[in-house]
Amino acid sequence: MSVIIAPSVLSADFGNLQRDCEMINQSDAGWYHVDVMDGVFVPNISFGFPVMNVLKKHATKTLDVHLMIVEPDRYIQRFAEAGSAVLTVHYEACTHLHRSLAEIKKHGMKAGVALNPHTPVSNLNDIIQDCDLVLVMSVNPGFGGQAFIENTYRKVSELKELILKNNAHTLIEIDGGVSEQNALSLSRAGADVLVAGNAVFATPDPSATIAALHKTANS
Ligand code: DX5
Ligand code: ZN
Repeated sequence: MSVIIAPSVLSADFGNLQRDCEMINQSDAGWYHVDVMDGVFVPNISFGFPVMNVLKKHATKTLDVHLMIVEPDRYIQRFAEAGSAVLTVHYEACTHLHRSLAEIKKHGMKAGVALNPHTPVSNLNDIIQDCDLVLVMSVNPGFGGQAFIENTYRKVSELKELILKNNAHTLIEIDGGVSEQNALSLSRAGADVLVAGNAVFATPDPSATIAALHKTANS
């Protein structure tokens, strides 16, 4: 399988969201990455269902929703109805992670778990077979445009080993500070999905940047 590029909508132009959706639809991007922040789990508030509704209307690709919120179980059904195909909750926000993942799947979505930079991969030893996706945070969640944390490579390799050892089919997603500089090293370490916000939308030709990231990650 080739590495998927998932542009992060957080860095899009909200005054021109339909235009940015059309750009992503026509680009080499595989997924949309959608960051939902509640101002409690992370020190920032992003957006919720009104923006999800715009994406549902205009996006023609997988909506990969990353919930940076407390008590995510309360909103699983709403995100399913809003068009989310992949729903990722934070390990640190779930007391009953096994139950949360089962609930996400019950609503017809792929179930993901996100790990903050300080959370060890080994915490997933007893749940990896239930994870369709593990999102490795390569910055502290809350904001786009932060510097990539180098320890991520070690975590990705360890996670890949855990997945293979368990014969699991879990995808590895990297989120934060991804760029053309680290895309190939991340794919070599075992990444399947690369999220890119600032690296895409801060360039003059975001579509060309997505193509370059896709090419680099799959070279
Ligand atoms: C950070 C978000 C990321 C963010 C990535 O909390 O989860 O998805 O949009 O943005 P960049 O690629 O700019 O680091
Ligand atoms: Zn994210």
